[in-house]
Amino acid sequence: MRYQIALIPGDGIGKEVVPAAQRVLEAAGSKWDFDLQWHEQDWGCEYYTRTGMMMPDDGLDQLSERDAVFLGAVGYPGVPDHISLWGLLIPIRRAFRQRVNYRPIRLFPGIESPLRNTGADVDFVVVRENNEGEYSEIGGRIYRGLEEEIAIQESVFTRRGVRGVMEYAFDLAGHREGKVLSATKSNGIVHTMPFWDEVFNEVSASYPHIKVSQQHIDALAAYFVQRPQDLDVVVSSNLFGDILSDLGAAVVGSIGIAPSANIDPTRTHPSMFEPVHGSAPDIAGRGIANPIGQIWSGAIMLEHLGEEKAGGAIIDAMAAVLAEGGPRTADLGGNATTAEVTDAVVDALTG
Ligand code: NAI
Ligand code: MG
Repeated sequence: MRYQIALIPGDGIGKEVVPAAQRVLEAAGSKWDFDLQWHEQDWGCEYYTRTGMMMPDDGLDQLSERDAVFLGAVGYPGVPDHISLWGLLIPIRRAFRQRVNYRPIRLFPGIESPLRNTGADVDFVVVRENNEGEYSEIGGRIYRGLEEEIAIQESVFTRRGVRGVMEYAFDLAGHREGKVLSATKSNGIVHTMPFWDEVFNEVSASYPHIKVSQQHIDALAAYFVQRPQDLDVVVSSNLFGDILSDLGAAVVGSIGIAPSANIDPTRTHPSMFEPVHGSAPDIAGRGIANPIGQIWSGAIMLEHLGEEKAGGAIIDAMAAVLAEGGPRTADLGGNATTAEVTDAVVDALTG
């Protein structure tokens, strides 16, 4: 098989961890007999400072021809974050109806959780609604700078959007431990969250074999810290999922290993795979970024494309490097470089 992959390393450590992950994916391709054709784009903040745009006008058209998008990170000091986010990532997520943000959280043997009581079996997925909810463009400001100034930001929840992300979560749970927990706040947010709960109850009725529960977001934050080992699939709105998935990543050791996938469940458009972390300007250019989050995102991309064996083997190879006291980067308490960790994963994969 041959896959056409749009490659957007982006900014900062994106330019370091993307080539590292490419090496691992290519090694998997040689072993399992598939070919990845990379179509690299230099879009991002540097491109913006040259052109005034994060990507060219026909950027989305170019991406739409590919089987998947593999992205590093965007954002860099000097370019406001709302420009880098709304000029590249959000247009891609929305134009390609990447309704689901899939964020697995797993405590690998060999990695120490900052939580004293956590055993080895923290393994769950945050399924975040990715296109609407609290991150809408609806609203505005009036009386700027005056005492009377007002800022209004509306949330948008559609039946199609909410149902779509929930069905994805229930289907996923069917292949895991069969549990879905809904993150809500229907006591404080009186219109959208009761609607969210109603749709959750409707969707639950079609999946009688799945065990369901609901938690308010504040209590759920505590739950993530106190008993993360009980979680299986957590379904949430855009904002709640954004926050919960960073919390989850922290509970299992480092944001540097957390992967994510922006998925169009209908497979009409390409899906996009990227680590949870950003461009880390504080460590960029030094060759010390942890490549695991990018590599794991690449493994999920292969699984999505139908190369389940190769994707699973990459995750096993990563786990082996972490478990065997192999090289690790500074965020995990080691002093290895990006290249050393990548070499070890390639060796574990092909050896
Ligand atoms: P960040 O994730 O870039 O960094 C947070 C902290 O984690 C830093 O101390 C960084 O050194 C560390 N870190 C992150 N990834 C690491 C890795 N792979 N290995 C080792 N350490 C790692 O988040 P921050 O600092 O809030 O944002 C920096 C820039 O990235 C901003 O411009 C922001 O808008 C952008 N950003 C982009 C995202 C994306 O492209 N999806 C997501 C989050 C932030
Ligand atoms: Mg985030």
